[in-house]
Order: sequence, then C-alpha cells, then structure tokens
Amino acid sequence: MNYKIALIRGDGIGPEVVGEAVKVMEAVGEKFGHSFQFVDVLMGGCAIDAVGKSYPDGTAEKCKSCDAVLLGAVGGPKWGHSTNPDKRPETALLSIRKDLGLYANLRPAALRPALADACPLKKETAEKGIDLMMVRELTGGIYFGKRARYQTEDRGEEASDLMAYSQLEIERIGRRAFELARLRRGKVSSVDKANVLETSRLWRQIMHKLAQEYADVEYEDVLVDNAAMQLVRDPGQFDVVVTENMFGDILSDEASMITGSIGLLPSASIGDTAPGLYEPIHGSAPDIAGQDKANPIATILSVAMMFRYSFQLPDEAAAIECAVDAVLAEGWRTADIAKPGETAVGTQKMGELIRAKL
Ligand code: IPM
Ligand code: MG
Repeated sequence: MNYKIALIRGDGIGPEVVGEAVKVMEAVGEKFGHSFQFVDVLMGGCAIDAVGKSYPDGTAEKCKSCDAVLLGAVGGPKWGHSTNPDKRPETALLSIRKDLGLYANLRPAALRPALADACPLKKETAEKGIDLMMVRELTGGIYFGKRARYQTEDRGEEASDLMAYSQLEIERIGRRAFELARLRRGKVSSVDKANVLETSRLWRQIMHKLAQEYADVEYEDVLVDNAAMQLVRDPGQFDVVVTENMFGDILSDEASMITGSIGLLPSASIGDTAPGLYEPIHGSAPDIAGQDKANPIATILSVAMMFRYSFQLPDEAAAIECAVDAVLAEGWRTADIAKPGETAVGTQKMGELIRAKL
C-alpha cells in the first residue's frame, strides 16, 4: 500500500522529532512493503512568521487530501498570547481539530517496563502497573462554546465562556470509549461533574444508556475531583477513562506525569473519517530546540498509533512499540529520562537505535 502523510513539523523540537519518526516510518515500510508520500504542511508559530497566520488558508484541505497527519509540536513563548487569534499558535490546533472532525482524542498513559522507576508515585503503586487510555472529547464543550467580554454597570468588565454538549457529541465519544475498552481490559470510567453541571448530568445519562448497550464492559461514574485524586492514589484501577474536553485536557497531563516520562507518550485524534492526526503529547520545548537533545520516542510511538488506528496495521504498530521497548531495555536514554550519572544519547542516535531494532 502507498500512504500519503501530511507532516506538520511545527515549532521548537517539532521538526527534529518528526524527522526521526519519518525515518522510522520508512524503515517499517521497507520491512512490511508499504510506501509513503509526505506532504509538508505549514502550521503554528512558524506559519505566523512565514505568512502572518498560524493556520494558513488551505491547511485543512491539504490535510484532508492525505491518509493521516503527523504533527510535531506547535507554539512557544516567542508568539506570546496575542489578542489576534491569527497570531496565536493555539488557534491553529483548535481549528484543525474542528475542521478535520477529530472529536476523539486518545492519550494512552502507560508505565513502560524499563522505566518503572521513573514513576513519581510510591513504589507499591508503581509495581501494580499503570496502563490507561484517556479518551478526551476534543471538539466540543467550553473550548468551542460562545465567548464574550463585556462591560457591566456595577461589576466592571465581565467575561464568559459557554460550555455546551449535545446528545450526538456525547454519544459518539462514549461509543469510542466502550469499543476501545472491549479491545483492552473491559472497563470504562466516565469522568464528569454531575453534582454541579447540567452538561455533566446529560453526559452521565447518555453514558448510562451506553453502559446498558455494552453490558459486557464494566462501567463506573467518577466525579472529576475524585478522578484527579484517584490518578495519583491508585492509577492501576483505570483502563479507559472517558471525559469532556477541558477535564480531559487537565487529567491527561496528570496521567502523563505519573508515568514519569512525558517524552514517551503519543496521542491520536480521530473522527469518523480520515485523516486522523497523530502527535506526541509533549510541547515544543523551545529551550532545547535544534540541539539534538529532544526525545523522539513519543513521536515515533505516535506513528505506531497511526498504523494501528488509521491504517489497521497492528503488526507494524507492534513492531515499532517492541523496538522502542527493546532499546529502552538495553539502557539507552535521552536526557529527559536519563538518571543522574547515566549518559544520554541525542535525538538522532535514539532514532537510529530504534530503526536498527526493526
Ligand atoms: C493539549 C494542549 C492544547 C489543549 C492547547 C495548547 C490549546 O494543552 O493538546 O492538551 O488545551 O487542548
Ligand atoms: Mg493540554
């Protein structure tokens, strides 16, 4: 098969980590008999510098002509927080999610066997293992609700962000979560704030209906504040965690932190039609950009997710994941995961080591 891949290399360490991931794709292609055509797409801070907007006209169309999108990282302090949305890198991220219909954001947080001692939690907790899949709703809720800023008569200026969720939006993300749970350990934890929010009460009502339909899957409701606590107390209890956009933003950072290695975590954003978008969950790390220091593993594992979820190629995905684990098991580390006294290898060397294992 020949696949056409859009590459949004982006800002900071983005181009370096995407560069290594592309070489891994090519190596997998050679081994399994696939070929790839790459299309560069300009988006983020670099696009502001080049053409004056973070999300240049035609970005979505270019991506839609491809089978999948691989993104490095966008943003950085250089572009600050302009009041002009065209000049904010985040605008591009939110726009591409919406324009490509990427309503389901899958963020696996797993403790890799070779790095169990990087887990910042108690040893007994780490020993139980962590292997959860955060399923975050990505195109609705407060991120996309109506915003306003206005003057009141007696309370000064006021701002408002509306959080709305429809039955359709909740049901489709819920189905994704239950389907994923069937392929994993068969448990869904739905996170909401139904003791306060009306959107959460509708969320819960729909999740309960789905739980009956997927009666083979174990189901529980967890209030978001409790979920934040349980994630550090006993993360091993979670399999699939499904939640709305902003709760998911916050909890997925927490989930990544407890694995001790944010540089290792991939993500997938998918909708009902291609292309899906794959990216590491770490940011653009401008402080180490261009120095061959960044960890390319999260981006390389994002390629594995692309093979699994966009191309239905589980063997190719597993080959990448095994190669990464083998390199880590041999003790190779990039600076972000090296312990004091351990020597670290650079971005390119890490990419090379992983390719050699394929
Ligand atoms: C993420 C990021 C984005 C989000 C920001 C950069 C807009 O934090 O992908 O989690 O909040 O969705
Ligand atoms: Mg976030």
